[in-house]
Amino acid sequence: MIFTSLLLLLAVPAFGQDIVYDAAHNITAITGTWSSGSMNVVTGSGFATPSQESFTYPPTTGMSYSFTVDGFYEIARYRMTSNGSVPNCITGVMNWSHGTYVLASNGSIVMTPFGDGYQQIQDPCAAISNFIENYNYTELYVLWNIYQDAVKGYTLQLYQYDGSPLPPQYLVSTSPNMLPTQALRNVSAASTSTAAKRDVQNAAVNANAGERRWGAASLTGLLTVISGLGLASLLL
Ligand SMILES: *[C@@H]1O[C@H](CO)[C@@H](O)[C@H](O)[C@H]1NC(C)=O
Ligand SMILES: *[C@@H]1O[C@H](CO)[C@@H](O)[C@H](O)[C@H]1NC(C)=O
Ligand SMILES: *[C@@H]1O[C@H](CO)[C@@H](O)[C@H](O)[C@H]1NC(C)=O
Ligand SMILES: *[C@@H]1O[C@H](CO)[C@@H](O)[C@H](O)[C@H]1NC(C)=O
Ligand SMILES: *[C@@H]1O[C@H](CO)[C@@H](O)[C@H](O)[C@H]1NC(C)=O
Ligand SMILES: *[C@@H]1O[C@H](CO)[C@@H](O)[C@H](O)[C@H]1NC(C)=O
Repeated sequence: MIFTSLLLLLAVPAFGQDIVYDAAHNITAITGTWSSGSMNVVTGSGFATPSQESFTYPPTTGMSYSFTVDGFYEIARYRMTSNGSVPNCITGVMNWSHGTYVLASNGSIVMTPFGDGYQQIQDPCAAISNFIENYNYTELYVLWNIYQDAVKGYTLQLYQYDGSPLPPQYLVSTSPNMLPTQALRNVSAASTSTAAKRDVQNAAVNANAGERRWGAASLTGLLTVISGLGLASLLL
């Protein structure tokens, strides 16, 4: 908790200083493909097929982000949540989007989608248990950094709009593995309503695909950012 608060403090513009993308902030460039956990979720053609609005299910959950040098990004996410009161009701979500990103001077990343993103939700206990819908949200990450993990190598840490950290992601390749960086399917305004949810029959939720490390924060990464900003004294 204390680290989240610190992070929000850091993100407040009142500090007035622009982020410097030196080795203390990011030991290598953000360009390339990153993936969490056992790195089975990877952006590109192995995950989403936009023309068919379909997904290829990876063996385990996780997330993957890719960034190009010229300002394009792609996100692939496979997540599972269980409901404590109804243990049989495990909800699976696959979601995919891409668009353009900006590294803002305050250290944030703003990701603006093309509008062709979509997600598949499988909830065995819901009225409609398996459907696909459009997914088009601009995403704000208030802070990020890249450090060297002794075992996993280059590690990207992203912090969400509310300061909470995403799971650490490891470098898959320095050249991004991505689908073409343009809208890959036509989305009509009408289809953004919930009435347009498309019922699907395929893959059932694989309850064994969940990984325990989802949500694991990286203290190392945060400390690196803080010391990089010369604010290490805040911790004492
Ligand atoms: C940082 O700048 C971006 C782009 O101008 C803005 O959207 C975002 O709200 C700013 N972040 C914070 C934490 O104020
Ligand atoms: C930090 O990331 C930025 C953006 O990818 C890159 O331009 C810069 O070279 C990186 N810094 C280092 C030290 O690699
Ligand atoms: C868990 O399932 C119950 C019964 O279907 C539902 O009322 C509740 O909102 C669910 N909780 C979550 C966190 O989804
Ligand atoms: C798709 O992923 C994002 C990031 O985890 C999340 O905010 C969004 O709610 C997801 N969609 C669903 C239906 O969970
Ligand atoms: C997707 O979101 C962007 C950014 O808010 C917006 O400009 C665009 O019109 C949206 N596209 C669709 C198809 O809703
Ligand atoms: C979208 O529709 C237009 C007009 O029908 C067509 O020219 C274009 O190729 C379509 N784009 C995609 C990505 O399917």
